[in-house]
Amino acid sequence: MSERFYITTAIDYLNGLPHLGHAYEKVITDVIARSRRAMGESVFYLTGLDEHGQKVQQAAAAEGKEPQAYCDELSAVWRAAAGRLGLSNDDFIRTTESRHRQVVQAMLAKLYGEGRIYRSTYEGWYSTKEETFLTDKDRLPDGTFPAHYGEVTRLSETNYFFPLKPYQAWLIDAIETTGELRIYPEYRRNEVLGFLKNEVLEDLCISRPKARLSWGIPLPFDPDYVTYVWFDALTNYVSVPASLGDKAAAGPLNLPVRAEAPLLWPAVHVLGKDILKFHAVFWPIMLKASGLAVPRQILAHGWWQKDGEKLSKTTGNVVDPIAVIDEWGLDAFRYYVTRELDIGPDGNWTNAGFQARYQAELANGLGNLVNRSLKMLVSYRAGRVPAVSRDLEPDATRAAAAAVQAYREFGTQRALVETWELVTRANRFVEETAPFKLAKDPTQAARLDSVLYSLVEACRILAVLLYPVIPTTASRIYSQLGLSGAPDRFAEAAWGGLAEGHTVGTPEALFPRRDLAKG
Ligand code: MSP
Repeated sequence: MSERFYITTAIDYLNGLPHLGHAYEKVITDVIARSRRAMGESVFYLTGLDEHGQKVQQAAAAEGKEPQAYCDELSAVWRAAAGRLGLSNDDFIRTTESRHRQVVQAMLAKLYGEGRIYRSTYEGWYSTKEETFLTDKDRLPDGTFPAHYGEVTRLSETNYFFPLKPYQAWLIDAIETTGELRIYPEYRRNEVLGFLKNEVLEDLCISRPKARLSWGIPLPFDPDYVTYVWFDALTNYVSVPASLGDKAAAGPLNLPVRAEAPLLWPAVHVLGKDILKFHAVFWPIMLKASGLAVPRQILAHGWWQKDGEKLSKTTGNVVDPIAVIDEWGLDAFRYYVTRELDIGPDGNWTNAGFQARYQAELANGLGNLVNRSLKMLVSYRAGRVPAVSRDLEPDATRAAAAAVQAYREFGTQRALVETWELVTRANRFVEETAPFKLAKDPTQAARLDSVLYSLVEACRILAVLLYPVIPTTASRIYSQLGLSGAPDRFAEAAWGGLAEGHTVGTPEALFPRRDLAKG
């Protein structure tokens, strides 16, 4: 099997319904996955759910349900939401699946067997909400613990610990010098390095006594304990390749290797800035200690707010992505979140901002261009494509090269900005050339042919460049152009693809204009 571009999202806690933050991450990962396929790479996109631990156990209890039954029910809703977001994921992992449990236990058994995990009694401060032990270093200047830890209690408990310190110097080197572990964007990489250089890594507590928390994967070497939810959750990235038999994942864990398995590991991980430490510190060390390669790359995205305030179920400051999609269409949502933020900075959702982009960029920009280009070809040339002309070729070639380069560098927002150069240019070209006037003058027939060709060909190329972000619209443009198949290969973005004499289909509005006053 050939090597794949393996890309993952964080797996969401199954303790509520998907919100804007979750949806954003899954969409930008999908944009990267689709763009890599468009480059001709073979891609494997994994997303899924984090179903163990206190948060989920409590959520199930609050509904009076057994955790497994609760997860089985709610996971169906999340899977459906992945479909509604148009995700092209190749698999969907749930951490309660046995294929995952086996890999977590194999990793723990290996680390324990090699003496990398020890048992000890620890007395300290514990945050039930965050499921974590705290030390005096976590205190605020006034001596209290930050509010997000909730109630903090004194706890004395025997647990299993995994020392991270022995790998600290290696990890610094892997990030700073050898390039073995790449973190994007640069300022997040520097943040991780700063942390690693200023703090000595404490031993990671990888267990929870069953008596206190039963909802987890039992430790293979002590049935009285379950696995710490983060150790469990991070391993999902390896459990899919390992259970398929990928030698780079299964081999080091002494699991069966299959010759026909796809070569997936190592992955590119997409996740939010809040969980970067888990991914850029704990996870690479878990992998290194287990004999696996570190991730190919870590992409840390920013956080969304709404109207300048934190998203919060309690205050009702939320954006329901499914409701937005129901009202405005899938591609309007995918376009807005990708266009608004590059991977890195934080974002702020406002309904006015969303609607303004819809109207200006989708309805009046792209939609209008495609619609009028096709309508003119239908009314002036009975829908028949004239001979290849080159008016917009330099603009299209430049936009295509810049957009593809941006996609390659994970610059998803930049890819759209570059692509819009062509949208704007082509719309301006309509104003400049005034085809409706040319059509009235028989001596201008050749000029009109040339203008019409350039316009419909620019529309075709736009479909190809936009497919990763707005696949439904891109496919509609292709079918309105009378083309079969999906615009899913960047190689198709070369000028001159529409052949003379080809007949286009029926133009239909892509993004109907809205009366914004009504919202
Ligand atoms: N279950 C853990 C991740 C384990 S990964 C091995 C978790 N789950 S979560 O549901 O809280 O968050 C899932 C992802 O959504 C994270 O990457 C997080 O950063 C992202 N987001 C949650 N809220 C967000 C925003 N408001 N904005 C953008 N992304 C946000 O953490």
